[in-house]
Amino acid sequence: MTDDGSGYFFKDTHYSDVLKTRLKDGVEMDSARAMAGYLQSNCSGDLRILDFGGGPGHYFPVIARTYTGGRLAYHSVDIDETHVQFGQDHFHGHDGVSFAVGSVLEPGASHTNQNCIISANTLPHVQSVQPLLHYVRDNASIEYVVFRMLIGNECVQIKKHLLEDQFDAMYASDFQYNNIYTLKYLQWCLGPDWQLDIKDDVFDAERLQQHRLPAQDSDPFYANRVSRPVGQMIFKGDIYMPWRFVIGRRNKHP
Ligand SMILES: C[S@@+](CC[C@H](N)C(=O)[O-])C[C@H]1O[C@@H](n2cnc3c(N)ncnc32)[C@H](O)[C@@H]1O
Repeated sequence: MTDDGSGYFFKDTHYSDVLKTRLKDGVEMDSARAMAGYLQSNCSGDLRILDFGGGPGHYFPVIARTYTGGRLAYHSVDIDETHVQFGQDHFHGHDGVSFAVGSVLEPGASHTNQNCIISANTLPHVQSVQPLLHYVRDNASIEYVVFRMLIGNECVQIKKHLLEDQFDAMYASDFQYNNIYTLKYLQWCLGPDWQLDIKDDVFDAERLQQHRLPAQDSDPFYANRVSRPVGQMIFKGDIYMPWRFVIGRRNKHP
């Protein structure tokens, strides 16, 4: 049976631990800073954020330090329950920060009263963004979206086989999606009530050059999964990753 693309996240305990360590050590990822900056420059008023694939909530401290437009509440939803547990322990007693197990493929099960949906580095790796975008379109309480995802000139579904020397279940399990979408497709999903802008990714090429996962040298599962810059482009293994920020605002009707 073909899995829905989330299978490898459950096998990827090294990467899951990397995210927890970032939270514990106060590491500010470039993409977290960029996300916080785009929220600050594009949103106003109180934000009740729902972060799909938010891991243990390591973006929240960066957003909280940056956003001055109003009060913040933050809810991270992730399929990995170890993130939910870690985040709950880390932010214990912190008002307005919460966690739940859930999937961006079933957004209605996670959404309560949030007016701002964010997601970083997760949407390319799920089977489809259509359930999320249709949910956003149909829920008038959602005013903003900010996503870091792959945006190009055509819609491309990419399945990366993750095993170096096993091919029995190729493209049925042990694969990772790296899907690219167009602005036109996102606009088509969201409909005419949404104003969308594509903004540059913000990253430090030198820092990315140094980026390594501890397991990448000894375990082929990781070897083709670490991002590396080639000039101004980011590659992961053989794949060009056109990372962009998508900023969306629901049009206000008088
Ligand atoms: C590449 S990590 C990104 C984490 C964080 N947003 C960041 O940018 O550092 C992807 C995260 O999405 C989660 N994830 C994968 N599939 C998901 C799904 N269908 N719904 C919600 N979260 C998912 C993974 O467990 C993981 O924590």
